[in-house]
Amino acid sequence: MLALAGGSTPKRLYQLLAELPEGTINWSKVVLLWGDERNVPSDSEQSNFRMVRENLLDHVEIPADNILAVPDPGGEAKTAAAEYDALLRAKIVDEYGSVNLDCALLGMGDDVHTASLFPGTTALAETEKLVVENWVEKLDCWRITLTAPTLNAASSVLFLIAGNAKQQALHLLWHGERDAQRYPSQLIQPASGELRFMLDEAAVGENRPPDGATLEFHS
Ligand code: 6PG
Repeated sequence: MLALAGGSTPKRLYQLLAELPEGTINWSKVVLLWGDERNVPSDSEQSNFRMVRENLLDHVEIPADNILAVPDPGGEAKTAAAEYDALLRAKIVDEYGSVNLDCALLGMGDDVHTASLFPGTTALAETEKLVVENWVEKLDCWRITLTAPTLNAASSVLFLIAGNAKQQALHLLWHGERDAQRYPSQLIQPASGELRFMLDEAAVGENRPPDGATLEFHS
């Protein structure tokens, strides 16, 4: 069970995964869901589903039943979010009410948003639902997003962040005032899973990791 991110950095990861030699990953065992989606039809150039389809799904053999995309985005955002919540409740919540999610991949915007949890939006306060619709004033659009508690239930949360434009956001995430309304990525604190950042040098810049964390360098 892997929750996918939108954005250009995760997109590059999907391209690299698609290029792996056949047999490296047993794709028949992989179940994919979307951390967030734009409320547009799935064939729209804005669609996160379309981005993943073009860069990954079209190149590997994943059973259709394992692809848990937002059903019918593009109409009423509230309906799409409710349908996605129901679908995920049936697929990733066990009989005890626990979310089973192996990994949540996340990007981060230079405004410190992650998934479609944008600063000052209503979705930040959601504690019950797996998925909600979220009006994003500055983008003048609806998004559909997993909520912070859903993402925090993952066994592993992995932020993929690259580029100079993210340096300041990374500083605010790690060392800024604790204010998740302004810096929503601060909401991401896995309940019992691990939290990792995959960063390039440009994003790290002069940033030091938070107390207790270490930076590893890989070439
Ligand atoms: C979206 C993405 C968004 C993205 C970040 C980082 O649908 O807009 O989910 O949250 O992950 O904005 O994007 P980059 O990796 O392109 O900087």
